[in-house]
Amino acid sequence: MANDASAAFDTLSPAVFKGSLADPFTPPADSSLWRKNFLLGAATASYQIEGAVDEDGRLPSIWDTFSATPGKVLAGDTGAVACDHYHRWEADIDMLASLGLEGYRLSIAWPRVMDAAGRPNRKGLDFYKRLLNRLKEKGITSFVTLYHWDLPQHLEDRGGWLNRDTAYRFADYTDLMSRELAGTVDAWATLNEPWCSAYLGYGNGHHAPGLANDRFATQAMHHLLLAHGLAIPVLRGNDPASQKGIVANIGRGTANSDSAADQRAAHLFEVQHNAWILDPLLKGEYPQDLFELWPGTEPLVLDGDMRTIAAPLDFLGINYYFRTNVASDGAHGFCDVPLEGVERTQMGWEVYPDGLRDLLTGFKKTYHNLPPIYITENGMASDDKVIDGHVDDTQRISFLKRHLAAVDQAIKAGVDVRGYFLWSLMDNFEWAFGYERRFGVVHVDYSTQKRTVKRSAELVAKFLKERKARV
Ligand code: FCB
Repeated sequence: MANDASAAFDTLSPAVFKGSLADPFTPPADSSLWRKNFLLGAATASYQIEGAVDEDGRLPSIWDTFSATPGKVLAGDTGAVACDHYHRWEADIDMLASLGLEGYRLSIAWPRVMDAAGRPNRKGLDFYKRLLNRLKEKGITSFVTLYHWDLPQHLEDRGGWLNRDTAYRFADYTDLMSRELAGTVDAWATLNEPWCSAYLGYGNGHHAPGLANDRFATQAMHHLLLAHGLAIPVLRGNDPASQKGIVANIGRGTANSDSAADQRAAHLFEVQHNAWILDPLLKGEYPQDLFELWPGTEPLVLDGDMRTIAAPLDFLGINYYFRTNVASDGAHGFCDVPLEGVERTQMGWEVYPDGLRDLLTGFKKTYHNLPPIYITENGMASDDKVIDGHVDDTQRISFLKRHLAAVDQAIKAGVDVRGYFLWSLMDNFEWAFGYERRFGVVHVDYSTQKRTVKRSAELVAKFLKERKARV
């Protein structure tokens, strides 16, 4: 989950990791991770890795515009070249396969595959066809996200997600993609993290398109969720064999004290981060507490919208990164109270695996129709350096091990978690933080585009090999 403090680039100084690496990664013998049908993969997103932003008819996206605006992205970085994956995709897929990863979550760049009149762009489509066919040949399960934030700029020029029409344009785009790619995709996710698109994009302006108004955020969210709800039946019609779902980032909020006001603040934090998205999807209604937090921001909802949004899902993708400790702000909201002395990552995010377990078990209680879950993103940034050809990313190894243990605990508590995707396959363009923050299990030297497998990826590969060898 991209941090909402991103515009200021003001992360807390990371505590030095002091963990032990005696048994660096392999899960204990009774862990559910040993189950062969627990999918272990890695994730990326189009704008963060592809580059080639004006090649083969790709149109500008809101992230091209935003990153070209001075002051919006750290060091003025843009996704123009990124990991040059558009040209290096074959080697990247070989690398993924050589690590034994069983799943790959990627996203499609909408501006690469459709022109402004809604006509297909063959060259862009062919890129994804080649990629997905290659994954199939290698036996890698594909999870394809239709929208990971790179909205075509021409749609933003007509109001973007503030314009209800964008939801219908998304349904058209979904129709095209699912007709063209049917049979090559194992699982479709409509949107990645609508919270980030709506809140960071339209609520505080830290992400593209950079608007800042709470009322905009709730209306953009409604149109994003509507887009999702319109797309699900389209996917079912065009590609019946695949799974259909959505990816949500979730946040753990804990109270700074036992006071009723702080407890309420923690509740409101989770309403704003989780229930705002999950209640419409799984209950067909917005949480009313949201409008206590942001009075007067109710979106315009037309008859039938909530039914459309609550279309049954085959899976729910969950992205989890950190917890936030909060207190009452003295009015009707919450404020962050960063804890001292806790372990943090290069992003300044607190390492808190229990939050993942607690949220998953909590959702199971709250939503009687909770679909099967895939952890579609989890990982951390560290200031990784290649030394003598190796990257020893000790903190990440421990981080992954502890978060996978939290997933195992949730499974043992009865939550149906079917897989886990590392964020990310390789270092990439980390939105408002540019290239400085390295989330990959593979290191990228941006001056040469050389990939170096980090120690974390080697250990995941070793585990997967052991698991595969088991009878
Ligand atoms: C998530 C995004 C992903 C990546 C991680 C760190 O919010 O989905 O693209 O940036 O954060």
